[in-house]
Amino acid sequence: MRSTSVDAARLPRLPSEFLWGASTAAYQIEGAADEDGRGTSIWDSFTRRPGTVRDGHTGDVACDHYHRFDEDVSLMRRLGLDAYRFSISWPRILPSGAGKVEPRGLDFYDRLVDALLDAGIEPTPTLFHWDLPQALEDEGGWLNRATADRFAAYAAVAAERLGDRVKRWITLNEPFVHMSLGYSLGVHAPGRTLMLGALPVAHHQLLGHGLATAALRAAVPDARVLIANNCTPVRLRSDARSDEDSAAATAYDALHNRLFNDPILLGSYPDLSHYDMTDPSWGGVVREGDLDTISAPLDGLGVNYYNPTWVTAPTDPAAGLPFDLTEPQEPYQRTTCDWPVVPDGLTELLTGLKSRYGKALPPVWITENGCAQPIGSHDQARIEYLAGHIDAVARAVARGVDVRGYFTWSLLDNFEWAEGYHQRFGLVEVDFATQLRTPRASFEWYRSLIAHQRS
Ligand code: BGC
Repeated sequence: MRSTSVDAARLPRLPSEFLWGASTAAYQIEGAADEDGRGTSIWDSFTRRPGTVRDGHTGDVACDHYHRFDEDVSLMRRLGLDAYRFSISWPRILPSGAGKVEPRGLDFYDRLVDALLDAGIEPTPTLFHWDLPQALEDEGGWLNRATADRFAAYAAVAAERLGDRVKRWITLNEPFVHMSLGYSLGVHAPGRTLMLGALPVAHHQLLGHGLATAALRAAVPDARVLIANNCTPVRLRSDARSDEDSAAATAYDALHNRLFNDPILLGSYPDLSHYDMTDPSWGGVVREGDLDTISAPLDGLGVNYYNPTWVTAPTDPAAGLPFDLTEPQEPYQRTTCDWPVVPDGLTELLTGLKSRYGKALPPVWITENGCAQPIGSHDQARIEYLAGHIDAVARAVARGVDVRGYFTWSLLDNFEWAEGYHQRFGLVEVDFATQLRTPRASFEWYRSLIAHQRS
């Protein structure tokens, strides 16, 4: 890895209007699972199933942000954030996913938005960060096309209440990860193991994104709408360069990246023939007009980046997937999730998006980037991670990519899905027994970076 100075003052200066932020998600921080009429989400159900989450952890209490948001907004103010990306819990607002609205749920987001605006921080909500109302899962979840309509109706309710103050909206968080971990592999809620049978989940989420975009624009004419896609540069090991390996990389790129970016930015699906998807309507899942809805112009693409993915040709083509995931040969540093730390992958990703989509690529916001590190560590590794990746963004900007902002993941230690509370992504350490918040060294570093970039 190229060494990068971690001195915040020595990082390249990004444009003066560049937006500095931090991200969280409702189920990961809010807690208050049974309060104020909140309905059950698929994560409430999933965490109750034995063996799904490490040590049986749940998000019932999490960071208790529902009651402590004032303290958390004070921390954001201390950081000097321009914007805060949080998610709205669909079952807090529509406990059954559709129909009856729970005003106390809306009141919570009202209070949060007002506190953020008082602190001079732009609220940037995501409408869906994986906590689908269980009642909709009972009707098939995202395998059911009707969920896309329900999502748009929910977007309208949220926008009508908050849209006088909230102007930047994110529809979905990482539809690829929700499809693959939730519906293909069963590692996340709803815990289905459909493998490629999960593909309709991609289309229905994207359709939901398109319909919600229209609903947001109808309710808030000056809304700026984004989607947050998880993107990964796909790499080959240096000992794996055969034509079969290259074909595997192309196939994986189509599934992880292009399946979610092409329909939005180009209005078409990528070639999925590696997956035996030769029927352009996917057996009737993709209907006439859907791609027009999905490709409505966006104000920005949110990019969540953690690391590249290494692939090779499948060792057992009969197993059903046209690639194998593998590990890099290089001795990269690793986070506690065992993810390699590869800052230059972010420059590669951003410049790759620009060369692939050209003028069709709207401005980009990095909507997530960060790392889990050992609890109680001196936090230098997190500082190096952030410095390396922000430097990588600056390199992409210098090469002509229009990147407008960076949201780090995450403000607080939180419920890290199947890993429970074992992975610590926060700039702020949270003691989950006492709810004590303790800013880490990376918090001070990010604060000084933002101050320096503004000076
Ligand atoms: C998700 C976050 C998650 C983070 C770290 C992203 O895929 O959007 O909710 O905590 O990665 O795993």
